[in-house]
This record gives sequence, C-alpha cells and structure tokens, in this order.
Amino acid sequence: MTEQQFIPQAYSNKVSQGTVSWESPSNIALIKYWGKKKDQIPENPSISFTLNACKTTTVLSYTKKEETSDFDFEVYLDGKHKPDFQPKIKTFFERVLVYLPFLKEFTFKIETSNTFPHSSGIASSASGMSALALCLMSLENQLQPEMTSEFFNQKASFLARLGSGSACRSIEGDLIVWGANTTVKGSSDLFGVKYTYAVHENFKSYQDTILLVDKGEKQVSSTVGHNLMHGHPFAAQRFAQAHDNLAALKPILESGDLEAFIALIESEALTLHAMMMTSMPYFILMKPNTLEVINKIWAFRKETGLHVGFTLDAGANVHVLYPKAEAEPILEFVKSELAVHCQNGQFICDEIGFGAKALINNK
Ligand code: DP6
Repeated sequence: MTEQQFIPQAYSNKVSQGTVSWESPSNIALIKYWGKKKDQIPENPSISFTLNACKTTTVLSYTKKEETSDFDFEVYLDGKHKPDFQPKIKTFFERVLVYLPFLKEFTFKIETSNTFPHSSGIASSASGMSALALCLMSLENQLQPEMTSEFFNQKASFLARLGSGSACRSIEGDLIVWGANTTVKGSSDLFGVKYTYAVHENFKSYQDTILLVDKGEKQVSSTVGHNLMHGHPFAAQRFAQAHDNLAALKPILESGDLEAFIALIESEALTLHAMMMTSMPYFILMKPNTLEVINKIWAFRKETGLHVGFTLDAGANVHVLYPKAEAEPILEFVKSELAVHCQNGQFICDEIGFGAKALINNK
C-alpha cells in the first residue's frame, strides 16, 4: 500500500446527517517507537499489546453544511466543551484532509470520554485518536458503502497514525506491529498490522497493572521527545536494535519463554529512558518511586521465581506485566508492596484486549 491508495475516488452516496460512535483502547509497546520522520513515519518498528480496560469512547455527530467552508467542529470531554482540544484536532484534520475530502463539508460535534482519569498520566492520544479515526471511517463508509472491512481497518489505522503514531496500533488486537521490517511480513510504516505468527498460551490474557506513580502533566511532549532522536549520538544503533529485538521476540513469543520475554521488554523500556537521558537537551522521566518499584519487582522476582516484569512509556508510570496464571500472588504483591509508591495508592488493572468496538450505526 502507498499513501495514494487512501485517497478516495468520488463518493457514491450522499449523507446529510447522523451519529457514529466507537470505543477504542490504549496499547502498551513492548518494542518502542521512539523517533519519527516527516508525516509520522517511524524510524523503527514497534510492537504492542492492545489493552482492554483503558479506552476512549467517542461519539461523532455530523450535519452537512449548505456550503463548504473551513473546518467546523466542537469537542467535548465528559460533556464539557473543550476549546483547548481544538488545535490538536484541527492539525489532525489538516493532515488527513486529502484522505477524507468531506471534512470541510460537515459540521461536527465530537464527544469523548476516557475510562481512565484525564490527569492520570496515561496518554489518551492512542485511544482518543484511534476512536476519532474510526468514527471518521464510519462516515466515509456511509459515503462509500463498497469498502472491505480490511480496508476500513487499514485506513483507520493509517489515519490514526497521522493523529498520533502509537494510535495506529489501537484499532485491532491483540499484538500489533507498526513499521516496515523483515521479521513481520506485510508490515508497513503507514499503518499497524496484526502479528499473525505463533503465540504461546503464556501470552494469552497477559496482565498489565499500571502503577500511577506520577499523575502530573507530561514533562516532555512526545513530539519533542521523538525530535530529540534527530542527531542523537546513539540513534542509528537504537533503530537497528529495535529491528533486532523484533526478530528476537518472534521465537520468544512462539516458545513462551517468559524469562527471555521479560529481559527483552525491560531492556527496551530502559533503553527508551536511556535515549532521553543521553539526548541534548537531556531528561530524566523516571521519579524516585519509579526506581523503588523497579527494584522491588526485581527483588520479588528473584525471591519467588514468579514471572513479573515491567515496561515504561515516556513518563514515570510503571506497567507491571505478568501472565494470567500467576496473577494472584503478583497482584497481592502489587497491593502490599507497590501501591505505596503510587499517587494516592492508585493503580489500574488491565490486560490484553482485541481492539476497538463499534457502538452506533457503524459497519
Ligand atoms: C514512548 O505515539 O505519543 O509511548 O506520534 O508524536 O503522537 P506521536 O507520539 P506517541 O509516542 C509514543 C511513544 C512511546 C512508545 C510507543 O508507544 O511505542
């Protein structure tokens, strides 16, 4: 596929007004996307678990305008008008206009809500942008009913990527790869694809308990963070390493080797933070409690032999990952030992999910 293939022909149907709605989940990268080129093209491949509980629900209402004018939309979060969300969505609309030429022909109302608190430090961009992309695809599907569901999902992922890179991995589940590479056939820089190779039982229903170590505003926006990889002294090695790690992950996923899995994902997480520490300007995104948690996870793992590991995003929160079969003692450990390092003792229990769901009037 090329970008050109997502530019529609003249639409066959007319639509005057309606409402569509989707819920779309967040995702957690095992191999991290960090560094991008123009037009949200990733510098290296990434792979993620789609999540289940952390999600955004978006309702998109649309009315055809008398005349085509500039973009015309309002955004609401939990029922409250949010003019401050406007610029980000306007930028998104501008980026995708060539692929969705109807955008200036309608007045839109975008109503959105998240299952996780807005100020939890959990990024809502992956679930939010994917939910919006899916709603827009449902409208396009009404304008152009002859569309396969494969194309629908692919274009939704393609559009979501233009909103936020990691959002392209939230359309489907349970393991999604984004970024062209030689390990996963059919992989693309333009959209996420399902990981269709053998995956051992150990990884089915994998658990992700998200420790809210720091709920504050992000210290470094992801755009600034990605840009720090331009001219970074270790960039080339890092991008090559991500390809190697993806190749190494394939036999691990197949065999169910939990020790090797944990070593790989923890190394990925710490490498992401190492990139931030060795860029110019440099940042430390972990907090003292992040390190307390990591050390406790390592000690607990050594003592019990249980397969608990962690990953991090570009922030202080810790994702505690473990197989469902070991959930009981590990969750007990989270409650008794790790919750004290979370703000107000807060953590969110999530697990692998299977992607977005249509709620109203969709294909
Ligand atoms: C550390 O997708 O938030 O979570 O494309 O600028 O919106 P933009 O960045 P974003 O970056 C996410 C980076 C990460 C790793 C990952 O999810 O792969």
